[in-house]
Amino acid sequence: MSASPTAPYYDPYDAAIDDDPYPTWRRLRDEAPLYYNEQHDFYALSRFADVYAASLNWQTYSSARGTVLELIDTNTVAGNPESDPSFGMMIFMDPPRHDELRRLVSRAFTPRRVAALNVRIRELCAEFLEPQCGGPGFDYVEDFAAKIPTMVIGALLGVPKQDQDQLRRWGDLMMRLEIGTVSAEKMDAIERFGAYMQAMVDDRRRAPRDDMISDLLAVEITRDDGSNRKLDHPEVMAFVTLLEIAGSETTARLLGWASVLLARHPEQRAKLVANRTLVPNAVEELLRYEPPSPIQARFTMHAAEWHGHVVPAHSRMALLTGSAGRDEREYPEPERFDVERSLDRHVTFGYGVHYCLGASLARLEAEAVIEETLARFPEWHIDEREIEYVRTSTVRGPSRVPIHL
Ligand code: HEM
Repeated sequence: MSASPTAPYYDPYDAAIDDDPYPTWRRLRDEAPLYYNEQHDFYALSRFADVYAASLNWQTYSSARGTVLELIDTNTVAGNPESDPSFGMMIFMDPPRHDELRRLVSRAFTPRRVAALNVRIRELCAEFLEPQCGGPGFDYVEDFAAKIPTMVIGALLGVPKQDQDQLRRWGDLMMRLEIGTVSAEKMDAIERFGAYMQAMVDDRRRAPRDDMISDLLAVEITRDDGSNRKLDHPEVMAFVTLLEIAGSETTARLLGWASVLLARHPEQRAKLVANRTLVPNAVEELLRYEPPSPIQARFTMHAAEWHGHVVPAHSRMALLTGSAGRDEREYPEPERFDVERSLDRHVTFGYGVHYCLGASLARLEAEAVIEETLARFPEWHIDEREIEYVRTSTVRGPSRVPIHL
């Protein structure tokens, strides 16, 4: 919180900082563990212990005005009862509203449904990777990794195989552009995606099947007051949209990071080729080392004190999960990428009430994709100049990784 000219400066929208935010985040942890950015008017916590504690404290750090830093409206202090900034999505709600929805959807998003996707994920890997065998190389993200998550979400919901690729194309368009720049193409994709899902929901309502959409329509919980509660139509649609938003881009970036980091650390990759049982641990290390979603933003409901300074009520607070993963107070030699590191915990999937609902699916996808990749391509090379990165305030990672075989 010092104003000296040498004080650390962190701007999440500055591309030069975002290229490698880690030296800046280290300075924040050491010199300004509660950081305030005047230009963009937000506070930031960067140490593991602080991010962890604040993630648990939803009473003070609210998600109900959104969790995208620049979209949090701090001016309308009382909130506008006419508008619902959550768009019906639980990720932008606080308890008890959040918890009721989460309990309901969790009845449909079960470990059984997730585990059943293993076969489909490996089929998709074979479909995309086999044609590349014997070739000179391909774009690991564009031609492969970015296609998988939306198709897997489709399979999870019960979208027939032949439509999963179409869903992926709409998903690509929906995700491609930054918030605030809605092109006609993007609007069209949003509408078609919505119409497709709408038709699917209507169909399952008439004739339920063994799929997650049918389960979402059927699940019921009993409230504390004894009344029963089911998901209504807009809630089912909002959840389906949330899965697409929360589950596709993040997972695509994680897979992209895997292709980059394993090429940068060939000795680590060789360990995985020699011993496949290390892959699940390697996924955790990837998540710690390069979190695809490195900033979770909140709105403070009350004043709070950190490191001797006060954060006023009604402020924007950035929880820097990306910095937490490199905190030397939590991880010995955090800059070392080590697939055999003994890792008890990380906050890459968030923590507390909003802990990533899809964490087990993301892990399953990453493990299957890395195994299937290494089985066909034990070695590849990258040229750092050819890699392109996505820059949004919510997701950070490679969007193009040409790999050379
Ligand atoms: C590597 C991939 C992924 C990462 C890094 C990731 C990260 C996160 C994080 C950090 C949160 C908490 C956000 C907050 O606290 O504001 C979250 C929540 C969520 N994620 Fe993920 N996620 C991933 C994959 C997925 C997948 C595959 C799905 C589902 C298909 C999914 C669905 C969700 C949902 C529904 C929430 C909201 C939970 C709630 O509000 O209770 N995520 N994710």
